[in-house]
Amino acid sequence: MIATSPDCSKDVWWRSHIMDILHSSSESLKSGLREGKITIAVYGLGHVGLAISAVWLRAGGKVIGVDVKEEVIKSINNGVSPIKDEPGIPETIKKSLAEGKLEATVDGVKASRESDVKIIAVPVTLTNTKNSDLSALKQALQTIAGGLKKGDLVIIESSVPPTTTATVAKAILEKTSRLRVEEDFGLTYSPERIYEGRALEDIEKRYPKVAGGIGPRSTEAAAALYEVIVQKGVIRTTSPAVAETSKLFEGIYRDANIALANELARFCGTIDIDFNEVRAVANSQPFCNLHLPGFVGGWCIPFYPHFVLQVANEKNIKLPLTSLARKINEDKPKVLIKVADSTLKEVSGKGLKASRVAILGLTFRGDTSDTRNSPSYEAIDLLLRRGVSTINAYDPYVSRDINLEKKGIHLAPSISEATKDTELIIIMTDHSSFKNHLTPNEVLKTASTPAVLIDGRNILPISNGGTATDNFAHRKIEGFSVFIRSTEAGKR
Ligand SMILES: NC(=O)c1ccc[n+]([C@@H]2O[C@H](COP(=O)([O-])OP(=O)(O)OC[C@H]3O[C@@H](n4cnc5c(N)ncnc54)[C@H](O)[C@@H]3O)[C@@H](O)[C@H]2O)c1
Repeated sequence: MIATSPDCSKDVWWRSHIMDILHSSSESLKSGLREGKITIAVYGLGHVGLAISAVWLRAGGKVIGVDVKEEVIKSINNGVSPIKDEPGIPETIKKSLAEGKLEATVDGVKASRESDVKIIAVPVTLTNTKNSDLSALKQALQTIAGGLKKGDLVIIESSVPPTTTATVAKAILEKTSRLRVEEDFGLTYSPERIYEGRALEDIEKRYPKVAGGIGPRSTEAAAALYEVIVQKGVIRTTSPAVAETSKLFEGIYRDANIALANELARFCGTIDIDFNEVRAVANSQPFCNLHLPGFVGGWCIPFYPHFVLQVANEKNIKLPLTSLARKINEDKPKVLIKVADSTLKEVSGKGLKASRVAILGLTFRGDTSDTRNSPSYEAIDLLLRRGVSTINAYDPYVSRDINLEKKGIHLAPSISEATKDTELIIIMTDHSSFKNHLTPNEVLKTASTPAVLIDGRNILPISNGGTATDNFAHRKIEGFSVFIRSTEAGKR
């Protein structure tokens, strides 16, 4: 159903019509998208929002990108993607801009007036008291409501606490727009399931999309459009809350399994067997899927248990397993620093405060440039609180970090520069370049003696530890792989 836009004015960029998304048939929605008759406004142009913009553009849509950061808007309107390490995004931005199918703006109300579908991908984070911070989401909803029209569809893709769409989002949109959800406009929750570094492939090829509308019209409209974009089809849920909660449970599942792996790896260390070997054998049975032990960081998994725990607390429900798993993983950097301190005291007689430290890896996981909520930064803060005065850091994906500079941390250009003359080296991130190329000997090469190397991700080979060609002893402490070079003779 295509109608002449009542909002058509001289400042409308490319629109000559609007489409009634909520009341159109699935077939006309699909052909409308493919034929470039549907305009999508994407709110929040970060890791998720740029990936969303790219896949809708590739499916045939026109996109108005909205962000509160002027520099992001400027960059996109100059054809330069603010996210560089996501295949497909830089090329799509450049091409679509040249074809006149993409424009970016800070004016979210105008973008809402001039679009048919509005997708929200702004951050929902945690407050200091570990409650969800919905301020960016509420602001985006308010802006959208300011330009919302009959027939429009609003889709939330930010991860949110259960029931946010049906309560917070519905209330803001209806109150400000004076329109009624499901009758005048659609409202659907659809979780984003990307893994940074292969976002477009994930959306388009790897996983089914999940869509849960406030009512059947909202669900169907979103599902019909997503069916043009995703190869694996769309799972329609009976409510937005099911879709919201499914995303959070995916994260809690991973969090609890990593906590379990952390606990079991600690056990294996104390009876002197290799957790990785045990894991490989156990996982050869199809009902077992033990995860890798390690740190949990980033803007997804660490938040999701708290989103669920917040609602559970409001309803007076106890979720002890979810809480304990989160605590085990949140405590991991603290355990690491304790292990470092006690091992240094044992090996050199001096503890952390008198030691020089190298941190290898700053991003929250391997092979990404994303440093948000990375355990490396928590480890650095814990070291600073212990009075450590020399901390060098190295990460192949991070060439500059103003926050680290302010703290007096030296960002070294190579591993050997970072480790030079240090007494403690900690591997925090499992980058492929670390995993595939490093050995304990090599990491310790320019370090001081005695020196302690803690492999926080258990990625270094240990099979040769203690042989004639090695200059270190190896131990498992609290699940960490610890290499100790204790005498000058050991520095070969
Ligand atoms: N990054 C991931 O791998 C991933 C995966 C699945 C889900 N998610 C979820 O997606 C959401 C977004 O994550 P992200 O990684 O893209 O965050 P991001 O920080 O990379 O990007 C968010 C963008 O939103 C902008 N923004 C903030 N408030 C705004 C507003 N009111 N209006 C318009 N723009 C606004 C910010 O300036 C920023 O550019 C989060 O809820 C996250 O949990 C992320």
